Amino acid sequence: MLRKRGSLILCGTFLFITWNAILVLLLWGRPPPGQPGEPGRDKGEVAEGPTHDVVADVLRMADTFEAELERQKNILLQIQNHQSLWDPSNRDKPKVDGPRQPVIPILVIACNRVTVRRCLDKLLQHRPSAELHPIIVSQDCGHAETAEVIRSYGNQVTHLKQPDLSDIAVRPQHKKFQGYYKISRHYRWALNQVFKTLSHTSVVIVEDDLEVAPDFFEYFRALLPLLKSDTNLWCVSAWNDNGRDGYVDPGQTNLLYRTDFFPGLGWMLLKDVWEELEPKWPAAFWDDWMRQPEQRRDRACIRPEISRTLTFGRQGVSLGQFYDKYLRYIKLNTKFVPFTKLDLSYLKEETYRKLFEKEVYSAPVVTYEVVKQGQLKGPGPFRLQYSTKDSFKVLAKNLGIMDDLKSGVPRTGYRGVVSFISRGQRVYLAPPPGWTQYDTSWS
Ligand code: UD1
Ligand code: MN
Repeated sequence: MLRKRGSLILCGTFLFITWNAILVLLLWGRPPPGQPGEPGRDKGEVAEGPTHDVVADVLRMADTFEAELERQKNILLQIQNHQSLWDPSNRDKPKVDGPRQPVIPILVIACNRVTVRRCLDKLLQHRPSAELHPIIVSQDCGHAETAEVIRSYGNQVTHLKQPDLSDIAVRPQHKKFQGYYKISRHYRWALNQVFKTLSHTSVVIVEDDLEVAPDFFEYFRALLPLLKSDTNLWCVSAWNDNGRDGYVDPGQTNLLYRTDFFPGLGWMLLKDVWEELEPKWPAAFWDDWMRQPEQRRDRACIRPEISRTLTFGRQGVSLGQFYDKYLRYIKLNTKFVPFTKLDLSYLKEETYRKLFEKEVYSAPVVTYEVVKQGQLKGPGPFRLQYSTKDSFKVLAKNLGIMDDLKSGVPRTGYRGVVSFISRGQRVYLAPPPGWTQYDTSWS
């Protein structure tokens, strides 16, 4: 068996070297790119004709090599991905051995911040298995210093580089939003790498300014089966938009919710959902686009009571104000919850909706004044009602929870209900009973 495997590797290596040799010969014989008549060149770019400058020629050759090597790296990555299939001891194994553990790769979206180190260190620190959670760092922006940081992790991570660093043509009013266009372009490329090139079937997306909690991996592993089986779910997120200290119950670290608001910030996505979104992926503002009814199609995400990610990205594409006001206060869970050993069936759509509505609408209605003054009597929970966009906004603002709505959905909301803690008591900010749908004009 060993010999068979050894000869397979030998054969692979031989093919690889031969392939490279042929390529070298081919590339040497080929005219440099950019000659007249060659299609596929951007209008904006300066045409590079043949020159007599040897240095430029060598540089161009190096570029071509780099691109080719990148392609080959991808092929090798794919081979590595499916290596277990070749293993004769796996091949001959009867299927009754039980289901194989699913692989959930982590895609880290990076650009020009060397602090990606904090993100990677925590991922590596808490990762239960390198095989089950390969880390793929996709880097945009071509920032050398950041590339060096990523490179320093060696084969603990796979380093991909988004190849198109050109500026994106935008209308004049959107000049200041160039960053959001680049982020969107990068997401599309990186997710295509994960699902198409590397053939994964799920992914957890993490941005370079996120730090993950100890049970981050455990959380996603536990929820993968639910995400796969429940067609009314389209993501699992690690983030609670209202997860500030004092607004969550520190005793309920295992509590999870369904939410109609796409939270992002550390979230799991399946290949089939990506195949649905990819063809219409937007040029910019991808997260708010996901929140539109045409994309969401009434699907929900799972989110935790206490966040499993923390954002430390004060300096980023958006201004730091939002960060200073809200984001920096979102509390990170510290206690490991063994989610894979818990019964999570309460999160299934039918079950959850019934349980949740009973819980919310059997709670006594209270007034804003009583909540604000901390005069809630009894064990709770309590219900605080809103019936217009303005009453929602005023109540939210005064109680310290997020007051913005996207396509009519309040942050963390489920069927219009926002759950939070106020002065140690559970409060549901809820529309009147009999709610049927969001009003997308609320924004
Ligand atoms: C905000 C969101 C973020 C979302 C983005 C796009 C929060 C806290 N953050 O970004 O989740 O993806 O809007 O709508 O709500 N990046 C690139 N290329 C660039 C610039 C940035 O790939 O040219 C990457 C960064 O490495 C990072 C991500 O895009 O992973 C977001 O960038 P950041 O600068 O953190 O912007 P936010 O304002 O936080
Ligand atoms: Mn950010």
